[in-house]
Amino acid sequence: MLRRLYHDQPESFAFLPENLKWAEAQITKYPAGRAQSAVIPLLWRAQEQEGWLTRPAIEYVADMLGMAHIRAFEVASFYFMFQLTPTGSIAHVQVCGTTSCMICGAEKLIDVCKDKIADKPFTLSADGKFTWEEVECLGACANAPMVQIGKDYYEDLTTDRFAEILDELSAGKVPVPGPQNGRFSSEPKSGLTSLKDFDSGKTQYNASAQRAVDLGDTVKRIDGTEVPILTPWMKGKDAVDVAASKTATVPPTAKPAPKAKAPAAKPAATPAAAKPAAKAAPAADTVEETAPEVLTAARAGGADDLKMLKGVGPKLEQTLNDLGFYHFDQIAAWGPAEVAWVDNRLTFKGRIERDGWIEQAKQLAAGEETDFAKRAKKDKLYD
Ligand code: FES
Repeated sequence: MLRRLYHDQPESFAFLPENLKWAEAQITKYPAGRAQSAVIPLLWRAQEQEGWLTRPAIEYVADMLGMAHIRAFEVASFYFMFQLTPTGSIAHVQVCGTTSCMICGAEKLIDVCKDKIADKPFTLSADGKFTWEEVECLGACANAPMVQIGKDYYEDLTTDRFAEILDELSAGKVPVPGPQNGRFSSEPKSGLTSLKDFDSGKTQYNASAQRAVDLGDTVKRIDGTEVPILTPWMKGKDAVDVAASKTATVPPTAKPAPKAKAPAAKPAATPAAAKPAAKAAPAADTVEETAPEVLTAARAGGADDLKMLKGVGPKLEQTLNDLGFYHFDQIAAWGPAEVAWVDNRLTFKGRIERDGWIEQAKQLAAGEETDFAKRAKKDKLYD
């Protein structure tokens, strides 16, 4: 297939600040003089930010890595995973057309794409929300036919269900990825013949689909706050000098122990009530950190279920408990300096702000329910 740059290109490209920090940190993974090895991750990040790879983006990445522009063009035009034409504002749909999927109905799925998106691949739908293409085997042959939408797989599709999924995405929803015919993963539809004692136990969906549901970012554009933005050895370093960072090793930030406060005998009036509401927090790593008040144990009556905060799973709840946080009102009381303190102690920085913990915690501390908490209870997400 002929892969060339799109005729209509934007004027410029720049990584968003968080993506820039992430990209600079990637470069430090390679020895001095080998920064060009980071070309694929950086091009990929640029595509995740914009939805497709523009000429200015390719040149920007090449300049960042000290490469001739043509070398970065060679990489971008060689790999089919790089989209050189504009993609839908919601998603680019990749339909597997290889053997298993083909004999199970991929051609009919392509008809759905033609009907609902555009007659030809790599063409924006009339509303600009979708594009599609046919791709080679995506490695989910036991769940054929399937499509990849954004970062996730939708498997065991029928034409009706596929059309429905596109409608749901178009309406701003994100359908649960994974098998769409009731299968948990790729076990026989007629029931297990082996591993009968297997009990998924903890999750509602199979591991991939559960992870996708937990992250909730299937078709979200990447702005750098979703994942650890720094390689471990770059933690605590705000501004990264790319040239220097190629060989730099930065020790992690020292973590002063916070003052622990004994739990009150009774649930106390929430600190949130006594404090003015926190303003939208600036990026945690630009704020001087202050240790919040912590508890040595939950108050009488037991800890709140912190998993009711979107973005907090069992592991993160344990981490918060270990840090001395057991109650929604504690989290609701954090200001930017406290957020910075907690953020510096989490593996993935930026998630407090990204997932809106403080707003959620305020609602939950006030006895209200958030949409996520309702859904988590209804779906028995953590039972
Ligand atoms: S043939 Fe479609 S995933 Fe392998």
